[in-house]
Amino acid sequence: MNRFGKTLALAVTIGMVAGGTLAAQAKAVGIAMPTQSSARWIADGGNMKKVLESRGYKVDLQYAEDNIDAQVAQVENMITKGDSVLVIASIDGAALFNVLEEAHRAGVQIISYDRLIVNSPWIDYYATFDNFKVGVLQGGYIVKALGLDKGKKGPFNIELFAGSPDDTNAGYFFRGAMSQLDPYLKSGVLKVRSGQTDFAKVATLRWDGAVAQKRMDDILTSKYTDARVDAVLSPYDGLSIGILSSLKSVGYGQDGKKMPIVTGQDSEIPSVKSILAHEQTQTVFKDTRVLAKVAADMVDAVLSGKTPEINDTTTYNNGVKIVPSYLCDPVSVDITNIKSALVDTGYYTAAQLGL
Ligand code: GAL
Repeated sequence: MNRFGKTLALAVTIGMVAGGTLAAQAKAVGIAMPTQSSARWIADGGNMKKVLESRGYKVDLQYAEDNIDAQVAQVENMITKGDSVLVIASIDGAALFNVLEEAHRAGVQIISYDRLIVNSPWIDYYATFDNFKVGVLQGGYIVKALGLDKGKKGPFNIELFAGSPDDTNAGYFFRGAMSQLDPYLKSGVLKVRSGQTDFAKVATLRWDGAVAQKRMDDILTSKYTDARVDAVLSPYDGLSIGILSSLKSVGYGQDGKKMPIVTGQDSEIPSVKSILAHEQTQTVFKDTRVLAKVAADMVDAVLSGKTPEINDTTTYNNGVKIVPSYLCDPVSVDITNIKSALVDTGYYTAAQLGL
């Protein structure tokens, strides 16, 4: 290298050090997200990429479109390319065992994102929301909306839905919701005419709205020809949309036939609009900007040899260890606080929601 080249190389190095940490310059981060079929994961991945790139990291963001083999292949590829940290929101929390073993052998650190990866000892940290609380917000909303906490005796008819059985979150959401509903189910104030109350019976593989719609169709046809549904516990907006279609197809929301209370989660735009149209009743807002920032801070910390900030060391046992976690706070949203929760916080513009 001639003198000019050396000076230039030195200047570039100084510039790099000044512009970010040395670790940041050298390291690449792999982000494996489950699917683009739901807007939240697009926001999660995009927000994380933005934060990490602004800190000087190289980011490889991949979506697996709910195909487990594709996700395994993407993670394998990230290891081969030499990524230093992987941030993974799994499709099936148990399917990544072998590939994570490989990652560990290659010295890659692993952060479980939103969904807990189970059975693997190689999960270093978990960034998520308080998933039990999400369920408490959903179940608690139904209790209040039906006036059960004020002594209303009904009896009211409710049907229960849960998320994908291979996603640990689904169990936390369901248990959280049932912690609120159970006393009323036991006393008979709430009735489940379908008789389907076990998690295994009410779970919805891959969080598929069409599956939920079909199950609701079957329940309405077999159990509600002469009775009305007063509430539906739905854990996720994508399922709520299917459930609402089913309810609409038998006349709910028309000709004085009131829609039941229908919960949800993720505050996705179509569902927020549905709340504004008095169809869906509630959703849970999980600010993906906050979660993405927490995960990016974890990446930064592990790559700088520091301990990331965590706020929970007891809840998330993945089968082989309790994974140190940071839990963000979910917020219940209905027609009364859409503006303050979703617009005033800058998450959506009023125009995006048609306000
Ligand atoms: C869960 C997640 C929810 C929802 C659902 C379906 O793991 O915590 O917020 O997005 O997956 O994608």
